[in-house]
Amino acid sequence: MMEINATDKKVILRVPLLLLGVLAFWISGCKHDPYISPDTPPTASTHCDADTVYFQNEILPMLVSNCATSGCHNTQSHKHGVVLVNYATVMSTGGINLSNPSSSKIYEAITGSDEIMPPSPATPLTTEQTNKVLKWIEQGAVNNQCVEDSTQCDTSQVTFNADVKPIFEKYCLGCHSQPTPAYNIDLNNWDDLAVIVNNGSLAGSVQHLAGYFPMPKGSTMTDCEIATVVKWANDTTLTDPGGGGGGNPDPCDPDTTYFQNTVLPLIVSNCATSGCHDTQTHEHDIVLVDYASIVSDGKVKPGNPNDSKLYKILFGGDMREDIMPPPPAQPFTATQKQIVYDWILQGALNNSCDGGCDTTNVTFSGTVWPLMQTWCTGCHTGGNAGGGIHLENYNNVVTIANNGKLMGTITHSAGYSPMPKNSGKLSDCQIAEIRIWIEDGTPNN
Ligand code: HEC
Ligand code: HEC
Repeated sequence: MMEINATDKKVILRVPLLLLGVLAFWISGCKHDPYISPDTPPTASTHCDADTVYFQNEILPMLVSNCATSGCHNTQSHKHGVVLVNYATVMSTGGINLSNPSSSKIYEAITGSDEIMPPSPATPLTTEQTNKVLKWIEQGAVNNQCVEDSTQCDTSQVTFNADVKPIFEKYCLGCHSQPTPAYNIDLNNWDDLAVIVNNGSLAGSVQHLAGYFPMPKGSTMTDCEIATVVKWANDTTLTDPGGGGGGNPDPCDPDTTYFQNTVLPLIVSNCATSGCHDTQTHEHDIVLVDYASIVSDGKVKPGNPNDSKLYKILFGGDMREDIMPPPPAQPFTATQKQIVYDWILQGALNNSCDGGCDTTNVTFSGTVWPLMQTWCTGCHTGGNAGGGIHLENYNNVVTIANNGKLMGTITHSAGYSPMPKNSGKLSDCQIAEIRIWIEDGTPNN
């Protein structure tokens, strides 16, 4: 074998590099199209501008996690010659077209003008994500990066939905989600999260601590993002799924309607009232007190609200007098109808979620009143108002707040009838929200 010493190696390397440099200069000098060398190092700015899309912060993590996976566009697989692992490969194989951004090969692929990427069964990118790619190309497809200064990083109030979930979406879900989650870790699954939070591998892997696989693979999180995930992992106690606690409910997704959180309380308070569809009365043999009774006898056709008896009859078919609940009870509001409609459309699952409750910003209109409408108002309106208690407006709620009955009933204290009647107790967090509003002096905000 021929021996090459270190100096020789440098010379051998330098010649083609020099040639490449000359070539690059020559191309950039002649090309009329705006041309960016794929080797341009990132330009970092210390301020993150909201209107700028940054390649290193936003585009690369998304491409790496969704496209540079094994079998697809990583360096080993380079399917169709496309490699999407860093700026240079994105620029040289992604078909970026600066004069006509929307006809860039990469943008066409992720928006599916031909065959959508990533292909099924992987989840396609969201419109928000594909728009980011387009905007980045429109802004010149530069290798830019922004570094948040420490004053911009606030980890004092980290919540899963507001802070951690967006980081997972950006850096991790492409690899760690169904149908084939990397390392069998599905970061959309609360039970999987419980495992990696409790065994320390979430915090360990994002901080690149010894003994853990460094994550995310292929891209780099900012210090602030790492601090956010670590803070959340350290502060969160999740039930071990094997611990017999029935596992952990999924974190609330704002686009999903949850049966246990909203649909059931709404139906119970409006329909499972005495004289109607509670277990004792079962008017027309219809009982609406839990998931089994609500979906029984074909009342609900998953995915098809307009063909579901529950939706059609409850909200009036052709005849006004068919509307349920019947007068003098208040019919469902448009928002409440929409809740039932969305839930059926989304498959009428017996689902529930955790995390939709926030005690940091409690108001009457945003917190207390929606709770009342979901859990209480149905039984506490009109001539049949339960116990003669009306909960139809702000003043009504203030009255039972001030005489102690609101807290007494929802905490199931001795001497009060436990509320909401016929359904489960409000969660500790919901009770805390109401207590905070009362302690604030029941503001009408
Ligand atoms: C490109 C695909 C990819 C991306 C992106 C990715 N992972 Fe991974 N992850 C893997 C693979 C594959 C493994 C198995 C170990 C290995 O091969 O490195 C793994 C392992 C893990 C582990 C187990 C580590 C250990 O030491 O036990 C955790 C926790 C994890 N990933 C979390 C994350 C988080 C959080 C993110 C986003 C910040 C992320 N991963 C992004 C592919 C990925
Ligand atoms: C399914 C119907 C139903 C629902 C839902 C319901 N209530 Fe009631 N409520 C009643 C009835 C009926 C009474 C009369 C007492 C009894 O029968 O327990 C009552 C009584 C009360 C009382 C007076 C209790 C006392 O001990 O003086 C308060 C206060 C009250 N409800 C508040 C609420 C609040 C707040 C909610 C929502 C969190 C709620 N209710 C949900 C039916 C309901």
